[in-house]
Amino acid sequence: MKIFLDSANLQDVENALARGHISGITTNPSLLAKEPKSNFLGHIKKIVAHIEADGRELPLSVEVFATKPDEMIAQADEFLQEVGYSNLNIKVPIGWDELKVIYALAKKGIRVNCTCIFTEEQAVLAASSGASYVSIFHCRLKDMGGDPVKVIENTRNILDMGGHDAEIIVGSIRGQSDILEAHVAGAHIVTAGAKIVEGMAAHPGTDKSVQGFLKDFSAWMS
Ligand code: E4P
Repeated sequence: MKIFLDSANLQDVENALARGHISGITTNPSLLAKEPKSNFLGHIKKIVAHIEADGRELPLSVEVFATKPDEMIAQADEFLQEVGYSNLNIKVPIGWDELKVIYALAKKGIRVNCTCIFTEEQAVLAASSGASYVSIFHCRLKDMGGDPVKVIENTRNILDMGGHDAEIIVGSIRGQSDILEAHVAGAHIVTAGAKIVEGMAAHPGTDKSVQGFLKDFSAWMS
């Protein structure tokens, strides 16, 4: 079970890195748009600086925002050149023309995170074109009346049977139960916002136990 942080917020990144529980970071254009207006690649470089200061070369996904295949490829090249981080992964949304982008980038040895996936078919196409990660949108699919657990299970089986190396990232997570549900269904990785992951560390039983231990001990000490 691997957890990625789904955030472009520098404080979230710092807090997560300091605890060592994350194995990567994902961003998307909407997450970046929540941050104070600044230079886009400058902001990505700040995230990279935090990762480098921590000392682990964690994967960082950054999404292209061009819409034409040639422009997406050029944008990916620009991100990689400007940011200069060896584990920068390029997020490309799934689509017929986008498969050309995935294939072109993968041929150059660039790791692609194919995003906005809602079906097994989309995931298999992305993996077959060379994506390193396929990102399935858990709660957005639930909102549409779909069954993300089934899609994750099927995708994992299909990828394993086909001998694909692509890993499943499950995003669009809104609660801790979604994280567990996705992992049990076969996700390699779940990416979630800072608050949701923070909540995973807490339980009323833990608070009660710790308080009880401290109370008993202080009574014995006095
Ligand atoms: C995943 O890579 C996406 O960035 C993200 O999880 C989308 O989630 P949302 O539905 O919370 O916007």
